[in-house]
Amino acid sequence: MIVLGIESSCDETGTAVCENGIIRSSIINSQIVHRQYGGVVPEIASREHERHLNRLVEEALSAAMLSVKDLDGIAVTRGPGLAGTLLTGVCFAKGLALGLDIPVVGVNHVEAHMFANFLADPSLEFPFVCLLVSGGHTQLWLVNGLGAYSLLGESLDDAAGEALDKGARILGLGYPGGPEIEEMAISGSSNKIKFPRALLKSGNLDFSFSGLKTSLLYFMDREKSQQSLTKKPDVAASYQQAVMDVLATKLQWAADKTGVNTCVVAGGVAANKTLRSLCVDALTPRRVLFPDIKYCTDNGAMIAYLGEIYLSSGKRSAMDFTVDPNLRMPTE
Ligand code: KG4
Ligand code: ZN
Repeated sequence: MIVLGIESSCDETGTAVCENGIIRSSIINSQIVHRQYGGVVPEIASREHERHLNRLVEEALSAAMLSVKDLDGIAVTRGPGLAGTLLTGVCFAKGLALGLDIPVVGVNHVEAHMFANFLADPSLEFPFVCLLVSGGHTQLWLVNGLGAYSLLGESLDDAAGEALDKGARILGLGYPGGPEIEEMAISGSSNKIKFPRALLKSGNLDFSFSGLKTSLLYFMDREKSQQSLTKKPDVAASYQQAVMDVLATKLQWAADKTGVNTCVVAGGVAANKTLRSLCVDALTPRRVLFPDIKYCTDNGAMIAYLGEIYLSSGKRSAMDFTVDPNLRMPTE
């Protein structure tokens, strides 16, 4: 089956073609226009998707050496995300599907992030524990099968990616903050400043990052008023370490609690090299997988891949399906 995937939940326009579980092409347009505002402006994001979608679909098809007539179905992100940006993708997908008389399926963006791990290792088997870390989500899932997920823990306030984005802003770095902090941390020392690690009571699988962000804010205010000169790379490295330590520790606890031997990490923050090595250290000898870096942040390939699984099992969305900015994962 040949499926076109369309992703437009936030500020990345992603298009991709998946054929029988293999990604034939994947094109991503990152909207750099938001950098001047220090965060995503929803209205501008919708207009940018609208402006680029047609060309990006053509590019994905031509990179796969296919034409629209070869498509057997279309998968599109239906939520969670920004209502306006989701609508641009869903309306485009519906129009194309109607014109071609092929089925369309609305896909859960968070679920697609988890399934990006099958692109890295098609032999991945259920059950596994997934640490889902993005700009909007920080969750631990026990994944028992397709559509059979149980939530083990989640952030009670900010997501990990959000903590990095807000931290970067406090440090005067650009957006998105995760890669900026990672870059700056390379030349810093991660044990210079002791930032707090919240909810580290054994067995608790929830997260909290808002106190960490506030403590960075106070630290930088103190630095300014006392004219101290802690090097910015040391602050960035210590802050990043505080976020990643908690994530890796709780992934290990989740594996202990469930007795599951395979763990995966997914979402934009999974691109972080410090997180990757901390998870490997914490989990060994258990197996821990990460998607390719290009499939960690938002992309159309994960939508096409998961969409093909659903479409080939007969699932379809009715033509009047709606976007859902707060779409929840199917739970057991
Ligand atoms: O999955 P994603 O692209 O979008 C959402 O679904 O939210 O994740 C975006 C988040 C942002 O907060 C960004 O700062 C973070 O992922 N991120 C990273 C890295 N690359 C992206 N965080 C840490 N290290 C990275 N290399
Ligand atoms: Zn995402």
